[in-house]
Amino acid sequence: MDINLIKTQVDSDFREIASLEELEALRLKYLGRKGVVAQLTSSIPQLPPQERGQFGREVNQLKNKILSLFAEQEGLIAGLGREGKITPEEFALPGAVKELGHLHPLTQVTDEICAVFEAMGFSVVEGPEIESEFNNFTGLNIPLEHPSRDAFDTFYLRMPGSAQSRRPGKAGKLLLRSHTSPAQIRVMQSRRPPLAVVVPGRVYRPDAVDASHSFMFHQIEGFMVGRQIRFSDLKGALEVFAKAVFGKEIKMRFRPHFFPFTEPSAEADISCIICRGQGRAGSGQGKNCPVCHGKRWLEILGCGMIHPNVFKQVGYDPKKYAGFAFGMGVERIAMLKYGISDIRLFFQNDLRFLKQF
Ligand code: PHE
Repeated sequence: MDINLIKTQVDSDFREIASLEELEALRLKYLGRKGVVAQLTSSIPQLPPQERGQFGREVNQLKNKILSLFAEQEGLIAGLGREGKITPEEFALPGAVKELGHLHPLTQVTDEICAVFEAMGFSVVEGPEIESEFNNFTGLNIPLEHPSRDAFDTFYLRMPGSAQSRRPGKAGKLLLRSHTSPAQIRVMQSRRPPLAVVVPGRVYRPDAVDASHSFMFHQIEGFMVGRQIRFSDLKGALEVFAKAVFGKEIKMRFRPHFFPFTEPSAEADISCIICRGQGRAGSGQGKNCPVCHGKRWLEILGCGMIHPNVFKQVGYDPKKYAGFAFGMGVERIAMLKYGISDIRLFFQNDLRFLKQF
């Protein structure tokens, strides 16, 4: 190795440094355990004895030169001027720590909703995203011929090492849960009433992605089981939730609906948060409200009294126990709360969107 060539190389390497990372790379190149200086040092014993002293001194000089270049560059990169003084321009530079991160808007809304129910005595439980067909459908009184069981509406998993994995085997099919309701089955199988639980989490449906659909979204399930739970308990709990999240002036209404796992079933609406249930927006007579389209109400969740067949599936006596359940879409709640018009914004990780929350 020609020590003079190396010296020129050092000079040009150190002229181009712009970051601590690059400086660190040079530290490894020259001063690392297998770096240039170490190689030079270990070549000394191979030299003729009379050359060793001179060569050793040169290696030492080179090493000291490199060390001082390091110190100089570190100082420069740290924002100090060449003589160790801070220049006026450098005083005007923005601070190096830009800003702290924060929770994703969906996480914020999920936490807020769960906290409201926790304050009412509910506990928060999570379930797995990969579920059995039993927990997702059968246990919830969803019949075999129900369209939601179709592969067009549910992602079924192909089990490794099994050719006929899509056919029901002994253990049954596995799938990506299409709602958070299977958590009802899990919790009821593993605990005894009284129960009051909320379950936040991801769910999956093979929908084409557009402004209001996503193949993955979030739900919050809630349910309460006890000896004397009534529909009015459901209404009371949901009203507390709606007022806490959307404001005290909000009104609620329940429309009859159908779900296989609740009877009776309902969909719950809140009065439109934009037109305050007037159906019109803007000054004067105005046009139809852009959010409720003049309908005055916004659908926010499905709910009902837990079906006796569900209690039978988990071994509860339907004559002894009653309960309510509800399920809501977190994206929908967040979109209404913040006036967000496209569900895809939640998943694109565009900082211009995320920074607004
Ligand atoms: N699981 C239902 C859905 O995803 C919502 C729901 C939950 C309805 C609990 C009633 C009771 O649409």
